[in-house]
Amino acid sequence: MSVSEAVPVETQQDTALLIAELHLLSLHGGDDASALDRMLEHVVQGFGAVSGCLAVLDEAQPDQIVITAGVDLPAGALGSRIALGSGVLGSVAAHGKPRLLAGARPGAAQRDLGVPASSICWPMMIKSRLIGALSINRTAGSVAFTQDDVERGATFVTVLALLVDNAGMRSQQQQRIDHLSTLNAEMLAINGELKATQAQLLQSEKMASIGQLAAGVAHEINNPIGYVYANFNTLSGYVTDLLAVARGGGGGSAKPLDLEFLSEDLPDLLRETRDGLDRVTKIVRDLKDFSRVDTSDAWESADVLAGLESTLNIVQNEVKYKATIDRQLVALPAVCCRPSEINQVFMNLLVNAAQSIPERGVIRLASGFDDEQVWVEVADTGKGMTPEVRNRIFEPFYTTKPVGQGTGLGLSLSYTIVQKHHGRIDVDSEPGRGTTFRVTLPRRQPEASGVALPKEAAHV
Ligand SMILES: Nc1ncnc2c1ncn2[C@@H]1O[C@H](COP(=O)(O)OP(=O)(O)OP(=O)(O)O)[C@@H](O)[C@H]1O
Ligand SMILES: [Mg+2]
Repeated sequence: MSVSEAVPVETQQDTALLIAELHLLSLHGGDDASALDRMLEHVVQGFGAVSGCLAVLDEAQPDQIVITAGVDLPAGALGSRIALGSGVLGSVAAHGKPRLLAGARPGAAQRDLGVPASSICWPMMIKSRLIGALSINRTAGSVAFTQDDVERGATFVTVLALLVDNAGMRSQQQQRIDHLSTLNAEMLAINGELKATQAQLLQSEKMASIGQLAAGVAHEINNPIGYVYANFNTLSGYVTDLLAVARGGGGGSAKPLDLEFLSEDLPDLLRETRDGLDRVTKIVRDLKDFSRVDTSDAWESADVLAGLESTLNIVQNEVKYKATIDRQLVALPAVCCRPSEINQVFMNLLVNAAQSIPERGVIRLASGFDDEQVWVEVADTGKGMTPEVRNRIFEPFYTTKPVGQGTGLGLSLSYTIVQKHHGRIDVDSEPGRGTTFRVTLPRRQPEASGVALPKEAAHV
């Protein structure tokens, strides 16, 4: 049966049919206002009425009902408010009892004005809860409504109340969904901002470490360059003297040339100078290895212990005055990682270890692996941490170091890097005894299935 043609309601079966049709209409979709219009139209048709109106309780002002749907209503009636208790609709809604108005025959003037000759007005209730009110009208000349019509209508008005209530709940639900979507969008935006801030922080932490590194490396290079330069001056003096002897002169200096001394000192000078130059070359190579300036940000199959050694050389200036390095390393298989990031983790751990040692101590480096993962430990004999400090060390900006010495970003950055590698950082620390950090990394990365991992162990 089409939902657009209502059967006149004369029997109980008709009422049931009308209810079923109303239900179909409510499921029919469209916005709630047009669904209510269609339902009301259906009821008006089903009861052979000519006009009707449906008013719903205003939840924001529960002492008023609002005309929400209408069939053949006077202009401007839709949307108007009726106080509970006032007028026929208002008082039916207030008292919860239907009313039949089917009395006086209207005069000609009233007929012209379309004044109804017969009306029924039902309250729409669910148990004792008011949902709204509905009225239908017949004009003069047609058969007046009877008490029977009032009773027949009572059931479907209850059904209509349920449908209206349901529609209200749907719209509330929609409002909640809209609200949640807005919140979600806001959260996504905040998340984006946080990510941008974190990226900026990482950048500034990198800049700070680069500054710290540059100072350390400058110091490390300065030393060999210093003695290469001094040796070079001595050598140029020797060469001048030797050239003078070769030309048959008595030497540039006042004293005679001591060939025996020269033949002993010259090889030493040259060896020391070569050592100095080797040292500078090594520092530059380590610096390159550490920063991996020549590689992209891609996953690589790498020997993390080689990275640890390069990093150790880079931070020599921070470490060598504080600690002796005790290596308890076993060679590790290649690990799929971003080597420059892992080196940055090692740098933070090594510098922290050195800074935790008040005067002199030991930094122990250890390693191990199984089929799935490798681990590297950096342990110190420094001052250790209380449980309170230990619980906060991975928080960004948490530092116990004096202003200007620590930014408190080293470990939070390291944590992020290790997490991105699907690994773990474990800490074991006791005040006065020292601290052990263990970095565990999986040997393979899910994102980097294309990176080949050689089977043989790398050499330390
Ligand atoms: N090996 C360690 N021994 C004792 N305390 C440590 C050790 N490593 C870290 N900590 C504690 O954790 C805090 C946070 O370390 P983190 O590396 O994040 O920052 P920081 O070293 O203070 O500053 P930054 O690394 O930015 O220069 C340190 O201030 C220190 O209190
Ligand atoms: Mg640090």
